[in-house]
Amino acid sequence: IKTIGVLTSGGDAPGMNAAIRGVVRSGISESLVMYGIYDGYLGLYNDKMVILDRYSVSDIINKGGTFLGSARFSGFLDEKKRLIAINNMKKKNIDALIIIGGDGSYSGALCLTKMNFPCICIPSTIDNDISGTDYTIGYSTALETIVQAIDRLRDTSSSHQRITIIEVMGRNCGDLTISAAIAGGCEFVILPELPYNKQELLDTIQCGIKNGKKHAIIVVTEYMCNTFQLAKYIENKTGRETRATILGHLQRGGSPVAYDRILASRMGAYSIELLLSGYKQHCIGIKNEKLIHYKIQDALTNIEKSSKYQLLKVAQKLY
Ligand code: F6P
Repeated sequence: IKTIGVLTSGGDAPGMNAAIRGVVRSGISESLVMYGIYDGYLGLYNDKMVILDRYSVSDIINKGGTFLGSARFSGFLDEKKRLIAINNMKKKNIDALIIIGGDGSYSGALCLTKMNFPCICIPSTIDNDISGTDYTIGYSTALETIVQAIDRLRDTSSSHQRITIIEVMGRNCGDLTISAAIAGGCEFVILPELPYNKQELLDTIQCGIKNGKKHAIIVVTEYMCNTFQLAKYIENKTGRETRATILGHLQRGGSPVAYDRILASRMGAYSIELLLSGYKQHCIGIKNEKLIHYKIQDALTNIEKSSKYQLLKVAQKLY
């Protein structure tokens, strides 16, 4: 392997830039030629690639987003488009690809490996929804952002003796929700992996009101319900003013926290090691602070739930 391409794909996440930097500088230190591909798989298909040197990735370790750009390109499901993408890479003698992204990006990589193009995936999404890794790049920063938002909402919520519902991202994964609920000292949590009971929600709020609590904060994962309707329902049932806040895309931005920068740098360097050791269809994870690798296919199955039960038990004890 002499020439490697790197791209970021799917929803951006803080730390993606640090990961690109880790990949590019580690590749150059092994005397490899490094190509950056713009706009994810779309740029691969549109032939938007440039050679990167070590200075092309200066001053980005602290920056949110991804300087290579990202996209959700459903056209990549079409094998003919993937063939064009592979030919674009062959014209530049690119022998392998490093993909930084979430599960959609992993699916794209899996398709490429099935067409015999070597790929290594680095997990990066705020959702933390990739199986086999404790953390994905961007998750810790997003969590920090959410907790700061909860702290601010708590100030106004208690000043007005209101109930506040906060909707957080995560798609089908409640990791951001449950962790933010614990760190934010919230009263109730609703997440996709575990069932919840509306009466239990109302009882918890009523119990707090009876005991003189000035406010209640409820954290809910996106897509679980219509958050504004839930706020109306709670207001009607409890007689307490209730407000809903959808944090939305502000959760995706911002300077990555140190943990994400270090994780991204380690994973970036490891991806080059794996390619040079002959791995062609693998992804990287972190387990108990040790870097690991496993098949891309395995990352797309068996989402772990047991850790969420443990965290939910903690949250419930502290309501
Ligand atoms: O996967 C990351 C994520 O931010 C999810 O939490 C969210 O559901 C989705 O992306 C939003 O996607 P988009 O930015 O395309 O609207």
